[in-house]
Amino acid sequence: MSVELKLRDVVIPRDKIARRVREIADEITAAYKSEELVVVGVLKGSVIFVSDIVRKIGPEVDVRLDFISVSSYGDSTSPSGEVRILKDLDVSPEGHHILLVDDILDTGRTLSRLVSLINARNPKSVRTCVLAEKPARKKTDFTPDYVGFTVPDVFIVGYGMDWAGRMRNLPDINFVSE
Ligand code: IMP
Ligand code: MG
Repeated sequence: MSVELKLRDVVIPRDKIARRVREIADEITAAYKSEELVVVGVLKGSVIFVSDIVRKIGPEVDVRLDFISVSSYGDSTSPSGEVRILKDLDVSPEGHHILLVDDILDTGRTLSRLVSLINARNPKSVRTCVLAEKPARKKTDFTPDYVGFTVPDVFIVGYGMDWAGRMRNLPDINFVSE
């Protein structure tokens, strides 16, 4: 049976997203001034967000852009650090400042495991940036360094975030329900 999906309210409109992206990019520019930085987008949810962020980071930061794709085993019994890499980094993180960018921090498992994985490869530093965070769902003590928006426990789509692979293209962040 196919489920009809209804787009509900726009939760965060595009102009508000753009303003927040600018603020975060300014913070990143200040934090990494005169440094090299490898910005790593976590595929696929971060692609819209990360492409907007990198274009707003000032030229005083020596930026490279890379991507990683992982699949989480996604159950609470799997030990921390366990992620399956579907597409690894092109740039070795060893000796580099790494900024991991993801769409949404839900339980926090994906990003905390990714941080452990990168840390095991001797980077100069690792920080994390998420478009949205759902504190009500958090199951780890992981705290991202840069957070776009704190959202309630509702399913959201758009601006890169998907429902079953769809609706990443929507320019606003929308609440969706069956
Ligand atoms: P975590 O490991 O539980 O933090 O999983 C985070 C991942 O779950 C994100 O990268 C998203 O792919 C997905 N996710 C969680 N909540 C939502 C949502 O409301 N909309 C779209 N994707 C979500
Ligand atoms: Mg995702």
